[in-house]
Amino acid sequence: MNAIDMAIRAAAANIKLTGVTKAYDAQTVVIPPLDVELRAGEFTVVLGPSGCGKSTLLQMIAGLERVSAGQIAIGGREVQDLEPKHRGCAMVFQNYALYPHMSVFDNIAYSLKISGMAKAERIDRVGAVAKMLGLSDYLARKPAQLSGGQRQRVAIGRAIVREPGVLLFDEPLSNLDAQLRHDMRVELAELHRRIGATTVFVTHDQVEAMTLADRILILNKGRIEQFDTPKAIYHHPASVFVAKFIGAPPMNILPVTGDGTVLRLADGQVAAQAPLTGSYQLGIRPEDILLDSKADGRAVTAALRFREDLGSHAILAAELGGSVVRIATPFGAEVLDRGEPSLTFPASRLHLFDAESGRAIPGAFAAH
Ligand SMILES: Nc1ncnc2c1ncn2[C@@H]1O[C@H](COP(=O)(O)OP(=O)(O)O)[C@@H](O)[C@H]1O
Ligand SMILES: [Mg+2]
Repeated sequence: MNAIDMAIRAAAANIKLTGVTKAYDAQTVVIPPLDVELRAGEFTVVLGPSGCGKSTLLQMIAGLERVSAGQIAIGGREVQDLEPKHRGCAMVFQNYALYPHMSVFDNIAYSLKISGMAKAERIDRVGAVAKMLGLSDYLARKPAQLSGGQRQRVAIGRAIVREPGVLLFDEPLSNLDAQLRHDMRVELAELHRRIGATTVFVTHDQVEAMTLADRILILNKGRIEQFDTPKAIYHHPASVFVAKFIGAPPMNILPVTGDGTVLRLADGQVAAQAPLTGSYQLGIRPEDILLDSKADGRAVTAALRFREDLGSHAILAAELGGSVVRIATPFGAEVLDRGEPSLTFPASRLHLFDAESGRAIPGAFAAH
């Protein structure tokens, strides 16, 4: 680690939420009691659809919203009754309102100035942050003279300059165009590696979650659906909700019925071997479906509805037993023109979920 990184490196703190609840009234419970621990230095992405309570959760950590019940401890210290400024968190919002009349330097230095830091130290600190964020040549400019990405970097600079142990982001990239979002993702990952602050990053974008997170916390109506590494969430989704939220296109979910030997689709075709009886939801990712592989006699026949050729691969949509399945295939036009492709679902790639609760049933295909 070089001197600049060292100067900015935060004392990371763990964040422990115990029974944290947010209710506006008895009918409006946004976050039912929630328990979770975010490790010191960890990059957590809170992922979920709009309105699921992501911002509320982040603002309760920051102190911008009060908890209705429960405790929040940061670095072992209970903070739920403290003012935001005493919690050791810095926050970056989607609408990163910079002070328009101030230079980049003054924007970044502002919080240091009001905390009474001596000028020489302010110059050092801002210089180090600006260098880290590639803003050294822009310190004299006003926000209006910067690109969107540069402005977002100033907002991040303003947050990290106080060396917070906890860095909170609320959809900070959603106003940026696709290329810039990608570049900023890479920069944020790099920044986190360098300063090591415990980071909580809220987004509804599963690509941001998959690429940035040490662990992803998936929120559904204020409840934790799953909290695990991107890899585990992708390969072992704990519920249909998670399975359908991650992946583009998302996992196919098909209703099936077991007769003790095989699982049948609604049209009677056999999708898999399994010693199960009753109703289930069968999951398979678009890229895990094999096309035209009748060799083992386990293929089902689907009716092709449409296709999208993305260059690197194609997405086929086909009707199967009353559901639409999506198939991702690297192969070109030769398979695309067949009206009734045969599909095979490799047993090792199948996921099984409870028909009612949607929770995963692990190990259902283990013997195959
Ligand atoms: N002051 C309020 N009174 C009642 N409900 C609110 C209030 N503020 C937010 N909510 C509700 O809380 C839920 C979660 O909001 P929010 O945390 O902003 O979701 P997200 O950030 O995941 O989109 C939403 O359903 C929203 O309507
Ligand atoms: Mg929000």
